[in-house]
Amino acid sequence: MTAVADLTLPKLDMTDPGLKGELWHAEMKSMLESGEWLAESPMATVVLGREAGEFFLRTRSAVFPGLLIARIFGIDDGPLFEQIKHNIINVNGDAHRRLRGLVNPSLTPRAANNYRPAMRDILGKLWDDLEGTVEFDFIDAFARPYPALTISRVMGAPPEDAPLLHDWSMWIQRQFDPIALSDPEMIETIQTKVGEFYDWVRPLIETRRDSPSDDLISSLIATEEEGEKLSGVELENLVLNILVGGVDTTQNQLAHAIRLLAERPEQWLALRSDTETLAPLATMEALRFEPITPFTARQLLEDVEYDGITFPAGTVIAVCSFTGNRDPEAFSEPMDFDITADRGKTRNLTFGAGFHYCVGANIAKAELEEGLTFLAEKIETLELAGPVELQTVSGIYGIDSLQLRVEAA
Ligand code: HEM
Repeated sequence: MTAVADLTLPKLDMTDPGLKGELWHAEMKSMLESGEWLAESPMATVVLGREAGEFFLRTRSAVFPGLLIARIFGIDDGPLFEQIKHNIINVNGDAHRRLRGLVNPSLTPRAANNYRPAMRDILGKLWDDLEGTVEFDFIDAFARPYPALTISRVMGAPPEDAPLLHDWSMWIQRQFDPIALSDPEMIETIQTKVGEFYDWVRPLIETRRDSPSDDLISSLIATEEEGEKLSGVELENLVLNILVGGVDTTQNQLAHAIRLLAERPEQWLALRSDTETLAPLATMEALRFEPITPFTARQLLEDVEYDGITFPAGTVIAVCSFTGNRDPEAFSEPMDFDITADRGKTRNLTFGAGFHYCVGANIAKAELEEGLTFLAEKIETLELAGPVELQTVSGIYGIDSLQLRVEAA
């Protein structure tokens, strides 16, 4: 058995702010070509392979390192610390199973389908707001407002609060981004934003207790009242987790999908010709090819052995979905973005795996499918109308600006 510390591994700095766009793709291509399944990053051992990635995501000998991240960055009090302690991603074992048992029924494929008419309605209004403009920033026009409006509908929040929800989600999501957390001012802002969210959500929960509706908060309250012991603190934190998990993520995945399609007119044409078949495939292909969660982390609770290598307790593992999703044994021609390719049944790693597998995956997929279907029906041709401003791959790999020129159908 070899200790991981004794291996000479390729180096990859996940926190390098320059790591994005073509450089990101080139760097990871050379990692794949090196034939290694591990790499070394300043804060973590990176797992590049798909099967190994799944193993580490699923093992019972590891947890998400949220509390470790808090300790490293000196977050030990205030609303942000409270939130980190109660975040479902940092809850494990029986307590986590119970929480998932309570929230899962509200986020099944069928539950997600129930929100599709609302999604189409939101997209229609955003389209109308463009008033025939043919050149616009896709982030401002669709990617940013659409998931925030959808999540406010899912939660039963007033639509006029969607910009607030967006702002909170964007800030609170940064609790997972080591680059952001290196700046103490950033941490102070996140503290404030978490406090604001709690102040906003508590009266909303009370309103829903008095007048339930067909929304997620009402359905969580109903579960609570059927004898399950979901405390007030658990309820408000679950709502926060859904908000934080559900806005910035879908926003950026949709933006990447549109960017990839704008760069490939023949695939846009194909999508337009058969949205029913190809919108779901395009959704899965965008998630596979350009994951907005390029790394998902675990911290080992005990020594773990895998493929003849020992990883000591305490090791932080960063599972790379970008490389895992390019495993040639799981996906044919994995380096190509192709919405018509048969990708088989293998799950990509973009939503993670195991106990903490993304609870909002069905909502996210429904939103992406509806977004792509709607836009393909409305837009005959689309092209990039300026340089794409990309964020870094540390945290959520997002897009700040995506200028499009379109010809309406
Ligand atoms: C493209 C969109 C999305 C992507 C790529 C994404 C990705 C992820 C990933 C990688 C994880 C961690 C999984 C793991 O550690 O194994 C996760 C967890 C989570 N996501 Fe998502 N997500 C997306 C959309 C959403 C949406 C729409 C919601 C809410 C409606 C959501 C809520 C959550 C929550 C609450 C967790 C924690 C689950 C747990 O700890 O049990 N996400 N997501």
